[in-house]
Amino acid sequence: MTAQKPLNVLLLGSGGRESALAYKISQSPLKGRLFVAPGNAGTGRYGTVLNFAASDFDAVCKAVEEHEIDLVVVGPEDPLVLGLREALDARPAGCRPVAMLGPGADGAALEGSKDFAKLFMGRHGIPTARHLTVTAETIADGEAFLATLNPPFVLKADGLAAGKGVLIEPSLEAARASLRTMLGGQFGAASAKVVIEEFLSGIECSVFVITDGKGNYRILPPAKDYKRAGDGDTGLNTGGMGAVCPPPFADAEFMKKVEERVVRPTVEGLIADGIDYRGFIFLGLMDSDGDPMVIEYNVRMGDPETEAVMPRIASDILPVMYHAALGQLTDSDIVVTDPRAAVTVVAVAGGYPGKYEKGKVISGKLEPEHSIVFHAGTRIGEGGHPVTAGGRVLAVTSLADTLKDAAKASYAALADIHFEGMRFRSDISADVTD
Ligand code: AMP
Ligand code: GLY
Repeated sequence: MTAQKPLNVLLLGSGGRESALAYKISQSPLKGRLFVAPGNAGTGRYGTVLNFAASDFDAVCKAVEEHEIDLVVVGPEDPLVLGLREALDARPAGCRPVAMLGPGADGAALEGSKDFAKLFMGRHGIPTARHLTVTAETIADGEAFLATLNPPFVLKADGLAAGKGVLIEPSLEAARASLRTMLGGQFGAASAKVVIEEFLSGIECSVFVITDGKGNYRILPPAKDYKRAGDGDTGLNTGGMGAVCPPPFADAEFMKKVEERVVRPTVEGLIADGIDYRGFIFLGLMDSDGDPMVIEYNVRMGDPETEAVMPRIASDILPVMYHAALGQLTDSDIVVTDPRAAVTVVAVAGGYPGKYEKGKVISGKLEPEHSIVFHAGTRIGEGGHPVTAGGRVLAVTSLADTLKDAAKASYAALADIHFEGMRFRSDISADVTD
């Protein structure tokens, strides 16, 4: 599409992922005005911050009219699972036409229900771990299935459980006990159904696809995130302590298998199932001896992977987003990758992922020359200074010819940033470079 008029964009969300999306969108020559809601202390650098929650659908609809929005880009999954697309579609006649990047509630079930995702993969021949879904009524079947598996045992709450709904149990006894506890309401309604799964070993990576619901798609550079709180992958699970892009093991041969065995059947499966999916698909994959297996689908970009992926996209992302949202990706919508490697290190609040304090003043070099500091859990405090407002506070990304040099640069940038209790992993990328 040529001679496109400038696009006004409303980006929903407030984390490091949204900072990275805002950073990338703001560089587009196609951009008219960019609004971010609710944003954080850093998003004002890229656009105008609007003060409403991402799941406040009335406020989204109002903002579309008031700010003449052409494209709504949804960062987190909640507004999608809760039906933002349907809410926009249900606006009265005469409302401003607007494109939205992100699936409807039907597509968002790929993330919102692990049972739905497993059935989808089964229907479309997409490689994934063997599984059985059980309820309180079928618990005996679940126990029998557990007995057919080798340890450790993977139990997943069917619904959204704030990233905490997956238990990996070392013994059959522990797995049986956890199955009962989960079905007994450990995660509320989210664990009324539990997916029991075969344990897969290998190394994990995240692959992001943007699709237009018509069978056209683009694959973004692959990434790997670091979920555990401590060095050497120890400690509690977190939202993500860092990311590398690309992980060296996700080479051309692996990515070809991912495209043939996972991406294409997923995009085509959605169409076959009558789901008009326009948005990002996040494939959580296990590289199992060179073969990709799907661990999970998410219906959004990853965080902190986005902070590593966006800076590596050398081309304009906005036309790709807009045309995917319109349902018409064209040959001119290309994704060009920067040959350099990216390493993102997340600075978290002391105590995270457990209890932590907020409101700590952030000082130091927040706009370094050789790195990008993406704000995540921050807000503007007294006197206009940024203060901490969440567990994951900042995500620092650097690009360099090698992952090793990119990591060095991100750690150098972090040495110049301070807030009380600040902590980060010191080994992001070490496992894939040493
Ligand atoms: P999920 O929420 O499905 O991504 O699961 C959270 C984490 O649990 C994943 O990132 C994996 O590290 C781990 N996991 C989930 N399913 C499996 C599996 N079948 N085998 C091994 N690890 C798994
Ligand atoms: N980094 C993993 C996620 O966003 O779910």
